[in-house]
Formats: sequence, C-alpha cells, structure tokens
Amino acid sequence: MADKYKIIGPVYDFLSTIYSGRQIHKAKTAMNVDLNEGDKILFAGVGHGQDAIDAAERGAQVTVVDLSATMLKNVEKNLKGRAFKYPIRLVHSDILEFDETAEYDQVVANFFLNVFPEDFMVTVMKHLTTLVKPEGHFVVGDFHFPTGNILTKAFQNAYWYIAVGIFTIFAKNAFHKIYNYPKHIESLGFSVEKTQSFNVLMIPSLWSIKASRKQVSKAQQEAA
Ligand SMILES: C[S@@+](CC[C@H](N)C(=O)[O-])C[C@H]1O[C@@H](n2cnc3c(N)ncnc32)[C@H](O)[C@@H]1O
Repeated sequence: MADKYKIIGPVYDFLSTIYSGRQIHKAKTAMNVDLNEGDKILFAGVGHGQDAIDAAERGAQVTVVDLSATMLKNVEKNLKGRAFKYPIRLVHSDILEFDETAEYDQVVANFFLNVFPEDFMVTVMKHLTTLVKPEGHFVVGDFHFPTGNILTKAFQNAYWYIAVGIFTIFAKNAFHKIYNYPKHIESLGFSVEKTQSFNVLMIPSLWSIKASRKQVSKAQQEAA
C-alpha cells in the first residue's frame, strides 16, 4: 500500500511546532506523567514518536505501531544515540492487524483517530480498547471538541479545519468535523477519568483524555 505520509511525513513534527508552539507536544505527553516504571504502553499511529520517547525516558516498556515507513524512519532518526531501560519496539503494521489483546497498561492514540471517517474511527477505537489490560488506561490526545461561547467555538473549528484541510490534501486524511471523543469512549464501556486542555491564543484548542473501563458492581454482574 502507498505510504500516504511520504510527502508530509518528513516535516510532520516541524509543522506541528509551527502550528502550536509546544502545545501539541504537551497534549501528546500529558498522560505520560502517570506512568510507572515498567508499564507497558502502546502508541498507535505514532508519527515521529517524541511522545513515545518521553514515555521510554520515564522507564516504560514502549511499543509503537505505524503504517507509514516514512514516519517510522523519523522515529528511528529521533532514537539515534539514545538509550533507555527498555528499548522502544517499532512495529510496521496496520493497527487493525496488531492484535496483542489485553497486553497494555496504557494504549495511546495521539492525533491518530482523526485521520479516519467517523464510522471507521469508532472501529479503530474499539480495536484499540481491546489492547488495554482490564485495569489499564486508554488515552486520546487530539483537537478539542468545540465548547464555550460562539467566538471560542469559531476559533476551535477554524484551528481544526485548517489542519485537517492540509492533511486531507497531503495525506488523504478524512475531512470531517471535530469528533466528540469522550462520547465515543463512554459508548465503548470506558469512563473518562481525567482530561487536560491546552490553549492556543488562550483558547482550549487541544486536549488529552484518559479513560479506564467502567467498573461493574457485583450486583450488576449477578443481574447480567
Ligand atoms: C496525524 S498522524 C499522528 C502522528 C502522531 N501520533 C502524532 O501525534 O504526531 C497519523 C499517524 O497514523 C498513522 N496511521 C494511519 N493509519 C494507520 C493505520 N491503519 N495503522 C497504523 N498507523 C496508521 C500514519 O502513518 C501517521 O503516522
């Protein structure tokens, strides 16, 4: 299959810094702070992997998966000369063919789910949740769902549509509205535990969402 990130892949992180300063990077690493040494963490659609490197620096056992050879080459470039307690494992695969079910303490989808049309995004999200251990976490970092007054929402939408416009042209990503990730996460039997927003021009434009499986009480289990 053709590598959709051949053109824009090499400059992906550069564009993200121009577009947000360090805010996109902060959104991508926000939930790494809760990791414990030795935790198994998966980054799906990893891109250049600075978030994965941050997790490895914290002592996590990191696996990264990406369909694009161009993106993985950039991860390798960023890994040159670095050593961690657990070396980062690179997997070149479609995430839907990666089936290490219930293996991960944390599964991270940073700016990954937004590349798909909504129905398929839910299929991918559902698959990602199967990779999470029973007590583990699922993390999504992405563009903030529009909230607040009309001007705030207009800015959040404009900020998203400029980005998705560029990636639709150069990487053939799906063109769509901003997804309501918490709603989809909850519909898959997870509860949102923590969210952190990141401002661009003082407006919450990016966020990181951390979720875990909904707890089922004994009474509910017996009734089921
Ligand atoms: C918008 S980029 C996000 C990259 C990175 N997570 C970040 O936050 O910078 C989307 C990434 O998902 C990868 N990707 C797209 N479809 C994929 C699939 N089906 N399986 C695995 N990776 C995929 C692309 O190659 C690309 O690296």
